Amino acid sequence: MCGVIGYTGKQSAATVIMDGLARLEYRGYDSAGVATVFNGDLHLKKGVGKLEEVEAACLLSRLPGNTGIGHVRWATHGGVTMENAHPHVDCLNYIAVAHNGILENYQKLRRRVVSRHKLVSETDTELIAHLIEEYLVPGAPLEQAVTKAVKEIKGTYALVVTSTVEPNKIVATRCGSPLVLGLGKGENFISSDFQAFLPYTREVVFLDDGETVVMTPGKVHILSASGKKTRKDSVVLDVDLAVREKNGFDYFMLKEIFEQPQAILSAINQEKSALKKAANLVNNSQSVVFTACGSSRYASLIGRYMFSKIAHRFSDVIISSEFCYFGDSVDENTLVIAVSQSGETADVIEGVIEAQSRGAKILSIVNTIGSTLARMSDCVLYLNCGTEFGVAATKSFLSELVILYLLSFSLAGRQEEAEEELKRISELMDENLRLNNDEVPKAALKLAGHDKFYYIARGINFAVAGEASLKLKEIAYVHSEGMSAGELKHGTLALVEEGTPVIAIAPCDDTHEHILSNISEVKARGAYIIGLSDKPDKLFDIHIEIPRVNEYYYPLACIVPLQLFAFHSSIARSLDPDRPRNLAKSVTVT
Ligand code: AGP
Repeated sequence: MCGVIGYTGKQSAATVIMDGLARLEYRGYDSAGVATVFNGDLHLKKGVGKLEEVEAACLLSRLPGNTGIGHVRWATHGGVTMENAHPHVDCLNYIAVAHNGILENYQKLRRRVVSRHKLVSETDTELIAHLIEEYLVPGAPLEQAVTKAVKEIKGTYALVVTSTVEPNKIVATRCGSPLVLGLGKGENFISSDFQAFLPYTREVVFLDDGETVVMTPGKVHILSASGKKTRKDSVVLDVDLAVREKNGFDYFMLKEIFEQPQAILSAINQEKSALKKAANLVNNSQSVVFTACGSSRYASLIGRYMFSKIAHRFSDVIISSEFCYFGDSVDENTLVIAVSQSGETADVIEGVIEAQSRGAKILSIVNTIGSTLARMSDCVLYLNCGTEFGVAATKSFLSELVILYLLSFSLAGRQEEAEEELKRISELMDENLRLNNDEVPKAALKLAGHDKFYYIARGINFAVAGEASLKLKEIAYVHSEGMSAGELKHGTLALVEEGTPVIAIAPCDDTHEHILSNISEVKARGAYIIGLSDKPDKLFDIHIEIPRVNEYYYPLACIVPLQLFAFHSSIARSLDPDRPRNLAKSVTVT
């Protein structure tokens, strides 16, 4: 997934675009580029690396002109090279294109385009620039050429296009990737995410698949999928501007870990009507299935336990990229609960579209207001945790858990009880964070030489083991496995040797005695035990203390020190926990 932005108006396009790209960098940071139109020429600069690196090398912000487009890339077609960085241009240097998405008919298109055009990159996006060039007719509007060109492509795209032919016009269109239009006074904006231009305007129009925006400084019109002018209502956003400040922390991820006690309180603050509607959807469905990816899937697995324990409702969790294989068991009596921080994860959206085609109702739990998933759901519960700049999910994961606790207890008519316990946990977490921020870095440093870790747990904490393992993999690049402690003896135990670090999640809940015996099994084979518990034990070589909470809520208490462990493991390996290699915050490709 990548981030795109376009601007036309009275300001320096490069300045507005660079400000926007800095807010879009969570979507990709392999390379960056800007193209502006000035004095009848296209001015284009781009480079490999994070935005600040490319700016230092290329001075993107110095490009002239009041109309332009910009892009931050997460590589899909073609390696991380300067040639593959966006924007891409046509043979005559009249047209520049930036794209978020993947063309599925890339090979066939490439064969068609390469016979008539000189290609300079390996990307699918460059093909679009040449297609527009072919359809550009002197005197005809740019949008006509764009519309004809996209008819030839299959796949997902959010495209922004500028040209010297109509120097103060931007054309943009979407299919499967997000695009939002920002309406200003004498200036207009288009981007993957409204946060990119929120400092300039709060009046936005969320675009749907097949729609095309044609914008100049003083005029905007929208074409429907059939090419006819159409009217769409704008909304004025009442959201906080995502402040890209670290407030004294060295990394966004650490700041966001420490924001979690407050995140609990914000997540509790749900619209009563929305929570009631969500509970009714669950009660009125015959079957409930969660669909999510990554951390959101681990949150869903915990939600599944809570639905069963508190509301005595069985549910299942299907990995979104696998959802399409379960479509036959989805019908109008099914409720699909889609959990997604970004609300733009393509795997999740694809599954939801499939479920809707079979009559299922959709309840989504998302952080991003106006996201594609939120706009296609029957009911939405918002995390309210603010923008999460760290690629690794921390406060958003915890907020998803809070929503799932609230929903589970609401189903049993015990919402107030949950709210009280969650508020208490918020205070305990604050205190525990300070305690753990001394102990955990020491443990991470001590174990920094190891290249494999096992996280073991039982019952509701099993998903915490999975989430903790995911954190370590994605920001410290260390292989690890989160697994059910009871499963160890069925195979994985063969991998345990002298000194193998095993992080045992052993809170004083109904799994405690059982997990202690599993710890004995691995310890007998030489494992080095990091015990996470509210009670010390002689089996632990290192004890990481967690607060004592009501037994259902230990996942909230356990995940925080494990997030810190992954963070400090990343730092101990001189890595950047905020922007891990190969990853991006919002995976808008399947
Ligand atoms: C979690 O740390 C990762 N960033 C990733 O697994 C993420 O949870 C996953 O891509 C799902 O994202 P979503 O919640 O925005 O759908």
